[in-house]
Amino acid sequence: MKTRITELFGIEHPIIQGGMHYVGFAELAAAVSEAGGLGIITGLTQKTPEDLDKEIKKAKELTDKPIGVNLTFLPIVNEPDYPGYIDAIISNGIKAVETAGNNPQQYLPKLKENGVKVIHKCTAVRHALKAQSIGCDAVSVDGFECGGHPGEDDVPNMILLPRAADELDIPFVSSGGQADARSLVASLAMGAEGMNMGTRFIATKEAPVHQNVKDAIVAASELDTRLVMRPLRNTERVLTNVAVERLLEIEKEKGADLKFTDIMEQVAGVYPQIMMEGTMDAGAWSCGMVAGLINDIPTVKELIDRIMSEAEEIIRGRLEGFLKA
Ligand SMILES: Cc1cc2nc3c(=O)[nH]c(=O)nc-3n(C[C@H](O)[C@H](O)[C@H](O)COP(=O)(O)O)c2cc1C
Repeated sequence: MKTRITELFGIEHPIIQGGMHYVGFAELAAAVSEAGGLGIITGLTQKTPEDLDKEIKKAKELTDKPIGVNLTFLPIVNEPDYPGYIDAIISNGIKAVETAGNNPQQYLPKLKENGVKVIHKCTAVRHALKAQSIGCDAVSVDGFECGGHPGEDDVPNMILLPRAADELDIPFVSSGGQADARSLVASLAMGAEGMNMGTRFIATKEAPVHQNVKDAIVAASELDTRLVMRPLRNTERVLTNVAVERLLEIEKEKGADLKFTDIMEQVAGVYPQIMMEGTMDAGAWSCGMVAGLINDIPTVKELIDRIMSEAEEIIRGRLEGFLKA
C-alpha cells in the first residue's frame, strides 16, 4: 500500500508501532520494521543516551529497514538529557522520530538538519495544527480510546480523525483503538494515511514483556480500562486491577486536594515490575479499550500480514461490492 506516510518513512505498510514505556525495546521495534511497518524504540525507557545508543545498535543488528525512536517530553522539573538522546538518534542514522507530550519545537531544527522526519502525537486538532505550523512532517492523531494519555478533551477517533482531515495539510495516522484491517480501512476512509498501534503490539510474540501482560490484554474486554489521574489533568487510560481501583478510591477521597504524592505508590516506577516481572497488580499501566478486540498473540509479521491482506479484501470485496449492488 502506498500513502504519504509510507513514502515519508520509506516503509512498505502504513502501520506504526507507537513508543511504549518498557515495551518499545529493540526486539519489538525491529520486528515491526522487519515486517514492513515502522517500529519505534522508546527513548526514555533507556536510562541514558548511551543506553539508547546501544539499544538502537541492537535493533539495527536485527533489521536494516527504517526504524524510529520515540521522544516523550514530560512536564517534569528534572528534565532528561534530551539533547543527548537526540545525538544518539542522529549518530546512528535514525530518520524517524515520534515526539509526544509537550511541544517539540526547540528540538526540531537539529532533527531536521539531520534529515530526521518527525511525527508528533497529539490528542486535539489544535495541537495537530500547532505541530504542522512548527514544521512537523506528520502527526499521529490519538483518540480518547487510546492506551496511555488521551488528553483532557475526550474526543474519540470517529470525530477526531475527520476533523483532523478537514484541517491538516500534512499527512496523519490514526492512533488509539486500532487493531486490525477494519481499523486500517476505516482510518483511511476518515482521511488518515496509516495507523499507529500500541496495545495491539504488546500482545505479540516478539514484544519483550512478561507473558502475564500479554495474557491480561487477551483476557480483557473493552470495559476493563479506567481513566486515572484525571484530577491532576494528566489523564491516563490503564487496565483495571487492584492497584488501579485503590488509586481511584484515593482520588475520590482526596477530591480537588489530590496531589501526585498521594498516588505515587500506584504509579511511580511500577513499569519494570509489571512488564518485566509480570506482577500485574503492582500498579497502573497504560492499556487501550482496543484490548476488547485482541484475542490472540501472533508474531508481528503474522499480525501485519493479516491486517494488510484483510484490508485488501475489505476494500476490493466488501466495499466495492456495495457499489455494484
Ligand atoms: C504500555 C504502554 C506504554 C506507553 N508508553 C508511551 C510512552 O512512553 N510515550 C508515548 O508517547 N506513548 C506511549 N504510549 C502510547 C502509545 O504509543 C500509543 O499512542 C497508544 O497505545 C495508542 O493507543 P492503543 O493502545 O489503543 O493502540 C504507551 C501505550 C501503552 C499501551
